[in-house]
Amino acid sequence: MRAQVAIIGGGPSGLLLSHILDLNGIGSIVLERKSKAYVLERIRAGVLEAGTVELLRQYGLGARMDREGHVHDGIRIKWPGYDTFLIDGHRFTGKTMMAYGQTQITEDLYSARETAGGHIVEEAEDVALHDLKSGRPYVTFLKEGKTQRVDCDFIAGCDGFHGVSRQSIPADARRAYERVYPFGWLGIMSETPPLDDIIYAYSERGFALASQRGPKLSRYYVQCPTTDSPEDWSDERFWHELKARFPADTAAKIVTGPSIEKSIAPLRSFVSEPMQYGALYLAGDAAHIVPPTGAKGLNLAVSDVFYLSRALRAFYADRRSDLLEAYSETALRRVWNAVRLSWWLTTLLHVFPGEDPFPAKLRRNEFDYLTRSEHAQATLAEQFVGLPF
Ligand code: APR
Ligand code: PHB
Repeated sequence: MRAQVAIIGGGPSGLLLSHILDLNGIGSIVLERKSKAYVLERIRAGVLEAGTVELLRQYGLGARMDREGHVHDGIRIKWPGYDTFLIDGHRFTGKTMMAYGQTQITEDLYSARETAGGHIVEEAEDVALHDLKSGRPYVTFLKEGKTQRVDCDFIAGCDGFHGVSRQSIPADARRAYERVYPFGWLGIMSETPPLDDIIYAYSERGFALASQRGPKLSRYYVQCPTTDSPEDWSDERFWHELKARFPADTAAKIVTGPSIEKSIAPLRSFVSEPMQYGALYLAGDAAHIVPPTGAKGLNLAVSDVFYLSRALRAFYADRRSDLLEAYSETALRRVWNAVRLSWWLTTLLHVFPGEDPFPAKLRRNEFDYLTRSEHAQATLAEQFVGLPF
């Protein structure tokens, strides 16, 4: 097979990239290890920056999001002893955010690709990248027992944190920067009406989050030890702990019910630099991970795809390679901003096991300052709504 761009991974990054390239007359093949059904079952964060919302609309992917998504000025923070604090994106930037699940975005992307006749290979096993520096790169994979080969001009590594693309860059040509946090998030989905707002709660018992996926679908999380497993958490225990971390009046409004999904995600910050090697360009979780506090993961994937698609368009339409050469640096500038913001919000809102009283005092002071300083609020709001691409 032959494609201008071989895309490894059919998550949001890979699908969005192939969609935008197609609209610019650039052909691609997406190689996805799992089945479509499996990909669509993954549940992930669902808060979109203003720029992500605009980009999805611009590329014809906004119809269902605008129907089913929920517009928000920002996310609220509950802190014992304080009035509810709104990270007010709208007030400080004039922009709003959208609550819309990544699962739905992935469904929308799949159907857009199918409508356009896009080439997606599901269940592509043993994907391997070859001759990245040769000027004639290619990818091989196994499908139904047969080895297949895709010759291409470029390879986009959109295969997430555990993918093969990043690992295909020689170890001495990349560097990782990492923080693993000493806790995870236990998340549940329940078919109950959510609270009106998305709310982060800080308490001495740890962090909690109330979010939403639809008028009758709620998503909640509590900070938990990384050593816990979902079986340790009966629904009853979950709801009890969740409510204990919110102020009593908010807790009273939480409608409980049986969970339909329950899982634990560890929290980590990770960046691999550079995001390019020869013909290979990394995008999304393949190159970086942020903890979910701040909901930046998907938004970063979208900004990478924005820069990469723009650079490829400039290459094919105008024979310009300067944007491709600048891709890693351009994407990383925005990545590090989100890495810092996500780290900061995580540090502000979580209790670190075994800590002495000093960091708790600092957290409280930081939050207190935030509630009193318009400057601090503007800084946070601007980054939360999302810096421009
Ligand atoms: N070969 C082919 N496909 C692979 C391989 C491989 N060796 N390894 C992984 N994949 C596939 C995975 O099955 C997955 O469908 O690559 C896809 C990567 O998708 P995501 O992990 O969702 O990563 P990305 O598309 O960059 O999306 C980033 O996901 O984790 C969230 O918060 C993050 O919202 C952000 C988004
Ligand atoms: C979610 O809705 O799943 C969600 C919301 C906000 C976050 C993380 C996850 O920061």
